[in-house]
Amino acid sequence: MNKVVYVSRGGNTKKLAESIAKGVGVSAVSVEQFDKSKSADILFIGASIYGGAIDKKMHDLLSELQPSQVKSVYVFGTSAGKKTALQEVKSILEPKGISVSEDEFHCKGSFLFTNRGRPNEEDLKQAEEFARKICIKQS
Ligand SMILES: Cc1cc2nc3c(=O)[nH]c(=O)nc-3n(C[C@H](O)[C@H](O)[C@H](O)COP(=O)(O)O)c2cc1C
Repeated sequence: MNKVVYVSRGGNTKKLAESIAKGVGVSAVSVEQFDKSKSADILFIGASIYGGAIDKKMHDLLSELQPSQVKSVYVFGTSAGKKTALQEVKSILEPKGISVSEDEFHCKGSFLFTNRGRPNEEDLKQAEEFARKICIKQS
């Protein structure tokens, strides 16, 4: 079973999560809805950057995640600049032996007056394709 979990304060990463989930063929769940009792083959983690870091709710979820609950992890997200969630996710999960792919999906997300309209239709299409390819590769 593959899963998609995200945190999104303003809705940008939620949009990506829904496209990723479409590519996977599941529903995306927010960090609050995540069911830790069922393990995942591939876990897609969606997170943005706020003040240089990911949201605390996602940080806490990742801190609790155990190797028995997930086989592999892919990261996706949005931010105003170039920084992505990948390094922070890796720094939490890899010491526990949970492997995180370097292959991530990131695009600009609207913030104040910048990146208006992002993620846009093209971003969403690419996110869906990213997820679909990973699922095919891993099946
Ligand atoms: C409080 C706050 C702090 C932010 N800090 C950063 C930052 O340090 N670096 C960055 O690239 N983007 C930053 N952003 C922009 C967000 O990463 C961007 O708007 C993202 O798309 C938000 O995703 P969301 O709508 O899923 O919450 C910040 C946005 C907010 C609201």
